[in-house]
Amino acid sequence: MLKVSFTFDPPEAVATLALVTWAFEPWTAAPGERRLEGVLEDLDRWADESPAVPPTAPRLEYALAALDQRTEGQLQELAAAGELTGKAGEAVLLHHPNGFRAHRLLLLGAGKSGKFSLADIRTLAGVAARFLKGRGLTDFAFLLRALPPGVPAAEAAQAAVEGVELANFEPAVYQTGKNNKKSIAALTLAGLPAAEQQALEAGIRRGQVIAEAQNLARELANEPANRLTPRLFAERAATVAREVGLQADILDEARLRELKMGAFLSVAQGSEEPPRLVVLTCTPPNWKTGSPVLGLVGKGITFDSGGISIKPGEGMEKMKYDMAGGATMLGVMQAIARLTPAQKVLAVIPLTENLPSGRAQKPGDVQIAMSGKSIEVINTDAEGRLVLADAVYYARQLGATHLVDAATLTGAIHVALGHLYAGAFTNDQKFLDRFLLSARAAGEKFWPMPLDDEYADNIKSDIADIRNTGKGRGGGAINGALFIQEFVGDTPWIHLDIAGTAWLEEARPGLAKGPSGVALRTLVHFAENFAGEKS
Ligand code: BES
Ligand code: MN
Ligand code: ZN
Repeated sequence: MLKVSFTFDPPEAVATLALVTWAFEPWTAAPGERRLEGVLEDLDRWADESPAVPPTAPRLEYALAALDQRTEGQLQELAAAGELTGKAGEAVLLHHPNGFRAHRLLLLGAGKSGKFSLADIRTLAGVAARFLKGRGLTDFAFLLRALPPGVPAAEAAQAAVEGVELANFEPAVYQTGKNNKKSIAALTLAGLPAAEQQALEAGIRRGQVIAEAQNLARELANEPANRLTPRLFAERAATVAREVGLQADILDEARLRELKMGAFLSVAQGSEEPPRLVVLTCTPPNWKTGSPVLGLVGKGITFDSGGISIKPGEGMEKMKYDMAGGATMLGVMQAIARLTPAQKVLAVIPLTENLPSGRAQKPGDVQIAMSGKSIEVINTDAEGRLVLADAVYYARQLGATHLVDAATLTGAIHVALGHLYAGAFTNDQKFLDRFLLSARAAGEKFWPMPLDDEYADNIKSDIADIRNTGKGRGGGAINGALFIQEFVGDTPWIHLDIAGTAWLEEARPGLAKGPSGVALRTLVHFAENFAGEKS
């Protein structure tokens, strides 16, 4: 586990193997262009006016110019040589920087100061961690200077800790003889105000709790289906619940049958592996009956072959992460149990494989969901909405007054939004608006998708109440959302389609490729701030 501490020593006095900070790209606002606000504007202006720098040389931004005075011009020299520009993606490593106790100084390009945000601090901390651990260095000091306007030091500390912890995650867990994949073991935060020590400590703890939960979600999504069956996932959930003090109820097949979860069971019937439904509850100590309850529902298909409507072989191995939504919800519950939310939060995670067999459901089969609605199964590969239909209904029965589901539901959301944004659907715009504020605070991207009544005809069936796929082409992600909506009644509800974002095909700055743990940070922030106001 990552050890985090801070130092209030000035940068040059920090004794560390590597002192890391960022460098902005020097820039001057064009006439009419919005100047920077607050502190950054001052820094930028000072850079313009800094007498120490000849006007023709490439300038350092002011705060860096101050560091440069310690190095007796080493940084300015690099800037003049064009090797230190502050452009995003740049990494400049100096050994034995003049005037510093640190053995190395690592400067990471942060782009233009006017666009610098809290999310960049998280990313840069991760970039530093991956840069250094790739070179066998396992601890460093991160100098947080020139924070974006309005960003409290404690939030910057939290983001830095998250960045490093998330950067420590490596997906190649089954490679033998390769345990040279080092982790950052110790992080020292420098440059933060000593007067805020208490808030900083809280920020560090939040960062650790949240990033560990996100890494738990990533670890589970990374596990192959033979090593994470529904039963093993459920056992893992029970262990997490015990560790952090959540109430857990693991429902087996017999209980699912008693509850008449016909939609969920229809998916499970094709597999030899028995299904499980995990219910986790976090009740704050002074919670009052009748207060709002946030219900989190996560799709937990531990392997999706498509069933009888079998998928093509190419890329099918990816369908081990079809439980990413469920893994995220388990992670969220772990985090909020350690942070104590204001309101009661419960999670429902339906777990099963979707396989073809002599007992598997067939296209055309009609199933009766727990709610009593009849469903014509047109395509057995549209199984996520079937398991979620019963899961959201059950969450409401358990008392959820508000719902958020996360699911790797459709390839169509990837077509619509690519790998950057997850889709967010709702039956309550104000509820979604609040969620999107949490997304911004957590540095995650969701794009609102439409769910107008006029789409409803898409899922009408000739034989049953609804069908599990749309008619005609297009709008596939919307049809999935429409289907789930049939089971939420008038409960305020958000559906997150994370099929395009749960797996990174390429590494991102500060992040390994592989499972992303998307939506976890937003959901933790949202659950913590959830007051359940009527909207
Ligand atoms: N699990 C898939 C969706 C998916 C696709 C997740 C790519 C991650 C990456 C889902 O169960 C599925 O198969 N959806 C079908 C729905 C269709 C049959 C209506 C799809 O998107 O093709
Ligand atoms: Mn499927
Ligand atoms: Zn699926």
